[in-house]
Amino acid sequence: KKRVISGVQPTGTVHLGNYLGAIRNWVLLQETYETLFFIADLHAITLPYAVPQFAEATRNTAAIYLACGVDTSKASVFVQSHVHAHVELMWLLCCDMPTGQLNRMIQFKEKSRISGVENVGAGLLTYPVLMAADILLYQSDFVPVGEDQMQHLELTRELAEKMNSLYGGRKGKKLGGAGLFKVPEALIQPTGARVMSLTDGLSKMSKSSPSDMSRINLLDSKDVIANKIRRCKTDSYSGLEFDNPDRPECNNLLSIYQLITGRTKEEVAMECQSMSWGTFKTNFTEALVNHLLPIQARYEEITSDPAYLDQVLSQGAAKAAVIAEATLNSFYQAKGFLCR
Ligand code: TYM
Repeated sequence: KKRVISGVQPTGTVHLGNYLGAIRNWVLLQETYETLFFIADLHAITLPYAVPQFAEATRNTAAIYLACGVDTSKASVFVQSHVHAHVELMWLLCCDMPTGQLNRMIQFKEKSRISGVENVGAGLLTYPVLMAADILLYQSDFVPVGEDQMQHLELTRELAEKMNSLYGGRKGKKLGGAGLFKVPEALIQPTGARVMSLTDGLSKMSKSSPSDMSRINLLDSKDVIANKIRRCKTDSYSGLEFDNPDRPECNNLLSIYQLITGRTKEEVAMECQSMSWGTFKTNFTEALVNHLLPIQARYEEITSDPAYLDQVLSQGAAKAAVIAEATLNSFYQAKGFLCR
């Protein structure tokens, strides 16, 4: 079976972008592939974070995965820091990773602008190498992510190829025959890969935006959702349409509507072509609330039993560690280390 890996950081709350861009697709992929989904806690500490709530945020993110339909009889769900090989492989990869290239990464430039490049922690710079380690450890074939992760995936592919050519001599061939590391592919859906902010159709929906009005969180109540949609940015055209570059908000809301109702783009375009914003907002709110209610109910159920979650995470980590250790050991060997 081909292998799939992906993760979400336990920073802030999971929003519609994370769901439509990533988690929703995981649920489909677990039917066909061997899947591993982890909570990227080590990535979450690259920027200032709330220490007292951190463990709980990690557990709650796992609960969101399960509530969205990740099935632990099919997928391994684990916490990144519970599998030590992630950090270890990252270090090995870091030593062959040119800092110039890391300095040019889009997310590094964006995220370091806030506190200044001189002041950010070194972890923010090496963040993409940790992500490459997450993926390469499992010899993953596919990585389902949103569009914002594309550059990280390209770097991962480059690193895999570089390691294979530097160290993948005869010893490396033992591992799958194709070199030390499998070169993974990003899986980016045509719709949902870039869900935009509710208050600005030109910037993406993000956990780090200071305004909660810009995003729908999966755990938002009915009233909060209704209020956010009532006040979200629209325009003064009549009728609604996809793909008009002058109407980014309209395109975004229709795309979200399409995804959560499970209709085709054509169906939605027809239904909404002469609809008023008022009517659309009512329908949209109802569709969203109906889609999220069962997820929220499952979330409540799952989080009411922390022992169950801890057991899921411990089994997931144990399964993941077996694969990760094998890759790590072969890599140490290929790099000429004296092995235990
Ligand atoms: P994170 O936590 O920022 O986001 C989790 C997933 O949600 C997607 N996403 C979006 N998709 C569509 N529209 C949006 N507005 C939107 N915002 C976020 C992201 O693309 C991502 O798929 N570095 C990763 C976590 C990570 C990871 C990995 C992912 C660490 N190691 C290995 C895959 C494989 C991150 O910060 O995602």
